[in-house]
Amino acid sequence: MNTIPTFETNRLLLVPVSLDDVASYQKHFVNYDVNRHLSAQVPWPYPPNGVADFFKNVLLPPQGKDRWSWGIRPKDEPSEVIGCVDLWRHGTPENRGFWLGKKYWGSGYMTESVAPIMDYAFENLGFEKLLFANAVGNVRSRRIKEKTGARLLEIKPAAFVDPQYTHHEIWELTKSDWDVFRKKT
Ligand SMILES: CC(C)(COP(=O)(O)OP(=O)(O)OC[C@H]1O[C@@H](n2cnc3c(N)ncnc32)[C@H](O)[C@@H]1OP(=O)(O)O)[C@@H](O)C(=O)NCCC(=O)NCCS
Repeated sequence: MNTIPTFETNRLLLVPVSLDDVASYQKHFVNYDVNRHLSAQVPWPYPPNGVADFFKNVLLPPQGKDRWSWGIRPKDEPSEVIGCVDLWRHGTPENRGFWLGKKYWGSGYMTESVAPIMDYAFENLGFEKLLFANAVGNVRSRRIKEKTGARLLEIKPAAFVDPQYTHHEIWELTKSDWDVFRKKT
């Protein structure tokens, strides 16, 4: 595994995930209000050992090669992983995913988290552009793209944990758009 950096923002530490994080990840992730916005590939009801199996079989084997996952830890609660940001080299079509435990929504934590990770993707991982996706109707996720310089490309049919979601929005963030956005912030 290649070494993945830890990032520090005003309020957060972004630390590459490890098996030590399974319990707190599970505590904040296994909640229908979080999961319903995710791809229908995510099982619901979520299996009891689902997070441990996901770490061992999906998340950790490619970590640092063509997948990168950071656990979000508040500086005032550094032992808690309260959310996660993932990048994938080979998009499906998106190259980034994220979630945050419900009680932490609405404080700007995800906007704060994605900034150093976008810097790293463009400056160190060699991405020239990143594709993002969210369910049409997932306003919180959409806002993060809008606020950070991404452009809406298209809307296509897609399946989510919540069957009321039937389409997703595909967004693009280019390296040059990110550079322009960063100079303004
Ligand atoms: C999508 C999700 C990660 C958003 O997280 P979040 O931390 O609440 O999002 P933000 O960082 O943009 O913060 C949201 C609000 O916090 C408020 N806020 C408070 N303090 C703030 C600060 N210091 N900086 C920025 N925003 C702040 C703002 O009002 C902001 O709303 P606005 O963008 O309309 O102005 C979260 O809702 C989530 O995990 N949802 C379920 C899973 C999911 O949808 N994942 C994505 C699938 S595509």
